[in-house]
Parts: sequence; C-alpha cells; structure tokens
Amino acid sequence: MAKIFSIINNKGGTGKTTTTLNLAAALVSQNKRVLAIDLDAQCNLSISFGVKESENHIGLLLTKQDSIDNYISNTEEGVDLITSSADLLDYEHKINNETGREYLLQEVLESIQDKYDFILVDCPPSLSTMALNALVASQYYIVPMQTENFAFIGLDKILDSAAKVNKRLNKGLELGGVLLIKFNDRTKFSQAVMSNLEGNDYLNGKIFKTRIRQDIALMESSAFNSSVLTYAPESRGTEDYLNFSKELLELYG
Ligand SMILES: Nc1ncnc2c1ncn2[C@@H]1O[C@H](COP(=O)(O)OP(=O)(O)OP(=O)(O)O)[C@@H](O)[C@H]1O
Ligand SMILES: [Mg+2]
Repeated sequence: MAKIFSIINNKGGTGKTTTTLNLAAALVSQNKRVLAIDLDAQCNLSISFGVKESENHIGLLLTKQDSIDNYISNTEEGVDLITSSADLLDYEHKINNETGREYLLQEVLESIQDKYDFILVDCPPSLSTMALNALVASQYYIVPMQTENFAFIGLDKILDSAAKVNKRLNKGLELGGVLLIKFNDRTKFSQAVMSNLEGNDYLNGKIFKTRIRQDIALMESSAFNSSVLTYAPESRGTEDYLNFSKELLELYG
C-alpha cells in the first residue's frame, strides 16, 4: 500500500515543488516506487521533470474520474508523474460544483495503491479545493518552511486547516513534519525560528532532523529539467535530500 504525502504550505515559494521533485528522486534512488502529482496550475513540478504539458492532466482526471493509467507519464528520473495544466483553475471551478468535491483525488488513487510505495502530491500555494483534495487523500502532510522570511504566518494557517480536515474529512491525516528549507544555523533569524518552533507543543517531535541548506544547485537543477541528484550528485542539495529521504523512510517507510 502506497504511503501518500501532501507537500503543502499555503505560503508561496517555501520549497514545496523543490522538495517534491528531489524527495521523489531520492526515494527512487533507494529503489522505492514513486508517483508524483502536480496539483498546481503553475505546473512547476511538471516542468522540473521535463515533461511537456500533457492533454491527460490532473484536472481532466479529477473531473472525468477516468482510469488513472492513461494519465501517468514516465520521467527520466524514474519517477512516475501526473502533470498539471495551466487551465487547472477552470477544472477546479467545475469540481467545486461536484458533490463530495474534496474526495475526488482519493477516489482516483484507490486503484493504484499497490503499484507504488510513495505518492507525493505537490500542492498549490493556497488552501483551495485542490489542496483539500490532497489532504483528504493523504496519510501525512509535510510542510516545507523557510527560516529566512515570515514563515510562521503560513504555518499557523496550514496547521489549522489540516486540523479541520482531520476532524471533518480525513481522520487518518497526520502531520508528517515540518521541513526547514534554506536553513543556516549561524544566522540569528534561523536560531530564533528554531527556538520558537521547539517551544511549540503541537510541533513537538515533528520538526525533521534533516534541514535543507541553501544551495544554488537546487535552483539550477529544476531549470535544467532534472532533480539535483542527477544534475549535481556531489552537491549539498543532493546530500540533504538523500538524508531527508532516509529520515522519512525510517519514520514512515
Ligand atoms: N534549499 C534551497 N536553496 C536554494 N534555493 C532554493 C532552495 N529551495 C528552493 N529554492 C528555490 O526557491 C524558489 C521557490 O522554491 P519552490 O518553487 O520549490 O517553492 P514552492 O513552495 O513550490 O513555490 P510555489 O508556492 O510558487 O509553488 C525556487 O526558485 C527554488 O529553486
Ligand atoms: Mg510550487
């Protein structure tokens, strides 16, 4: 049975797509079968994997409730992918009129649970119907958070929404953990963020030990349509995402 993770933060630019791409590639490098789903109209994950916009994207899959097999692309990274579409918001409007609109992703994933070890869903920077679909379909959610900006604004909101999803829509949803991105333990700001997080009872034990350091290779690799593992195997980005995948396997594998 696949473990399903939402990579989510309603704040923009926190490292959701970078984490989905590189965690997926790192898990594949450890012989795990991984499906990644791009649930964002920006299509950054699909582009990062070098997969051109496909007619059979997630918006169509969710509105038609079609057989999922026709919607899965193989990537050069060995990760399977369901692409997004720039028109995803049009599909979201259609979905919003549907009964049980938050359950559509869960429903289409049912038939492929045994084909994968992990399914990672890259969420949009909003708490939209698409993001709710991701949380309803998931056992865990991971919140990538940057320590260099106003990180807490996003964190409170996402924890709050996830708590509501947990109460009303998906009793099985759990916080997988908060992943610190562009972490630099020498800056006062990072230290302040850390002590604040550590003082939060709810997050107790839920901050991943692995921190993702700032690394230009992480920016470059997605622009060159590949994961950092392929683009720069010796980089800090590769080291950090491999360590993160190992920590995740220990905790939830
Ligand atoms: N550890 C890192 N070091 C350097 N740059 C990074 C790192 N993590 C992410 N970035 C860069 O930060 C930018 C935002 O990252 P990313 O696209 O993953 O965020 P996101 O949360 O998916 O954004 P959005 O909310 O728009 O979907 C990208 O240019 C990415 O390459
Ligand atoms: Mg993104």
